[in-house]
Amino acid sequence: MSIIEEAVRKTAERHQRSAPPPEQGAARPRLRRVPPPATETANVRRFQPITLERAVLDDNNIISGMTDPAALRAYKILRTRLLRRLEANQWRSFAVTGATPGEGKTLTSINLAMALAHDSNTWVFLVDLDLQRPKVASYLGLNNSLGERGLTDFLLGDATFEQIVYSPTGMDRLAVVPNFQTVANASDLLTSPRMDELVQGLEAEMPRRIVIFDMPPVLASDDVLAFAPQVDGMLLVVGEGFTSRDALKSAKALLQEMNLLGVVLNRSESQDQGAYYSYAR
Ligand SMILES: Nc1ncnc2c1ncn2[C@@H]1O[C@H](COP(=O)(O)OP(=O)(O)O)[C@@H](O)[C@H]1O
Ligand SMILES: [Mg+2]
Repeated sequence: MSIIEEAVRKTAERHQRSAPPPEQGAARPRLRRVPPPATETANVRRFQPITLERAVLDDNNIISGMTDPAALRAYKILRTRLLRRLEANQWRSFAVTGATPGEGKTLTSINLAMALAHDSNTWVFLVDLDLQRPKVASYLGLNNSLGERGLTDFLLGDATFEQIVYSPTGMDRLAVVPNFQTVANASDLLTSPRMDELVQGLEAEMPRRIVIFDMPPVLASDDVLAFAPQVDGMLLVVGEGFTSRDALKSAKALLQEMNLLGVVLNRSESQDQGAYYSYAR
């Protein structure tokens, strides 16, 4: 059985076990946002501190450095819709993917992580899981000039969990796992026992966090399919003018067996409603 068939089988099995999605036409479930108990937030673990430069964030279109109200509004709408779907299905993790490079998967992952962590009840891990083209660190203005460790170091057994998780100053509810090195055998590492250990470590953290995995395009390699059994859902980013209809069809066919959280339309010319980001089922 190929790695892709195996991944699809495991995903189907996992999702058969999980709660079924709400019935079509059923009343929308009421959201019950229970804040973590005060003691839990007081004792929350701080990871390695990092400072993000506002000017770098601004240059890279990252929302915490951004003043564009239309973009901020669009991410808030995306955050709210996503939270609703995650909560309704009791899902905690998702991978951000797409059909082709350059559609805005990494930018969407970062901005969404920040928008979610802005919500006072939501704790977030953002993990750079594009092992062949890691970009989260550079978009955030991080480098490993002082020997900082990242995800690949952990997967190769050269770093501990504590060494690869960072807490940006002033963003208490966000923690980031960046990557500074590319690897060729990405899907092997993504299905390795070390990767399982990382996912379990992230899931065990208290308070419980939403885990966002920034991933490569689904058509570029088998990385997304190989890793799919580890996540609850997929968020598909489509770049207007970037993603061809055929590529999108192929991507959707590959993701058929998985829970599709939604589709983010990025780089749209349209400025109405969700500004230039919109979100549909
Ligand atoms: N909506 C947007 N507005 C402006 N620039 C964008 C937008 N989406 C993506 N970009 C830019 O396009 C480039 C590719 O985006 P990226 O998120 O790295 O794509 P991917 O991860 O899908 O390969 C980056 O320089 C990013 O800043
Ligand atoms: Mg990317």
